[in-house]
Amino acid sequence: MAYTSELSFVYRSPTKIIFGENAVDDVAAEVDELGGAKALIVTDEGIEKAGLVERLEKALGNKCAGIFDQCTQDSGVHIVEGGYEFAKGKGVDVLVSIGGGSVIDTAKGMAILLKEGGKLSDYSGFQMLERSVTPHIVIPTTTGTGSEVTFAAVIKDHAAKVKLLLGDIHLIPNIAVLDPTLVVGLSPQLTASTGLDALCHCVEAIHSLQREPIADALALHAIRLIRENLLRSFEKGDDLVARGQMQIAATTAGFAFGNAQIGMVHALAHTVGAKYGVPHGIANGILLPHCIMYNLDECPDRYAMVAEAMGVRKDGMSDMEAGEAAANAIWELTKKLGLPQRLRDVGVPEDGLEECAEASLSDGCIVYNPKTIIDSQETLGVYKKAW
Ligand SMILES: [Fe+2]
Repeated sequence: MAYTSELSFVYRSPTKIIFGENAVDDVAAEVDELGGAKALIVTDEGIEKAGLVERLEKALGNKCAGIFDQCTQDSGVHIVEGGYEFAKGKGVDVLVSIGGGSVIDTAKGMAILLKEGGKLSDYSGFQMLERSVTPHIVIPTTTGTGSEVTFAAVIKDHAAKVKLLLGDIHLIPNIAVLDPTLVVGLSPQLTASTGLDALCHCVEAIHSLQREPIADALALHAIRLIRENLLRSFEKGDDLVARGQMQIAATTAGFAFGNAQIGMVHALAHTVGAKYGVPHGIANGILLPHCIMYNLDECPDRYAMVAEAMGVRKDGMSDMEAGEAAANAIWELTKKLGLPQRLRDVGVPEDGLEECAEASLSDGCIVYNPKTIIDSQETLGVYKKAW
């Protein structure tokens, strides 16, 4: 099979990365760099309670125009539109999001509406924007999403129980500030689930039909960082070095999949997330090994690379055996991290699988899966194994 990357590819990563202990305290200079004077903090109440917003507000000083703290775990269209009205009223010219993937994606949606107006659903799909949106600085407080450097935002339409996927190069944030002191308070469960999301981004970038060598290099290094630092930061939350390395891993994985794209793991995870509220990282952790096994015979060499980076490829193993070892190692890892391993354990009913299998075919990620899937019986088979 001839893959796009063997003939040509485009690699793009415009986001400026600032990494360091207490880096958040210097964020006002970044607002200056973007030519902003009125920055809106976009966040959720949990981040506020943890005292991180107060710290950011202090760092922004007189450039802080307000705080929008209404983001929720599965951010919704109504939240983005509410945030937009709030920001418009304050004359905001820069967004500073501080939080996990949902907060970041909410701000991406707001950045569109602040520039273009209208309804968020008008921009659902790929490359729907013709110009830059409102500048956006991201300060991630989890170590997994990668959204701080990607072109995508996933926003739930709670009424229709679907997730809107917005993908546009204009949504790539301008600046990401990675400060390990902001993630030491991340709970062990969120450390585990967001870490699995990052691992999933790596594997999906490596097996994607749009894979390319720069994304491969980034994803493989991110896997090594996750291998060395995920359990460490899960077991000892205040280990600043491990926390920082996981931040770097998540962002590096974001650079990889932001270019190479992702596949069926995310398509299936988005669907159970939209229909049954399964948190993104947990859904990915359950589905990833099953999807590797499903795709294995299509590109065993790719999963063998994953196994090598995970340190589980033994001498004499064939690519197929190494790929299987990678899937098994991921099951072992989720067990050690105390994550659920079956869809039945996270509120997905057996009689809902068929509907999910059908709906997952409409998710934009599935087109990049190494094995082409057009029949819902294929996704149903994977869902059943994961159930
Ligand atoms: Fe993800």
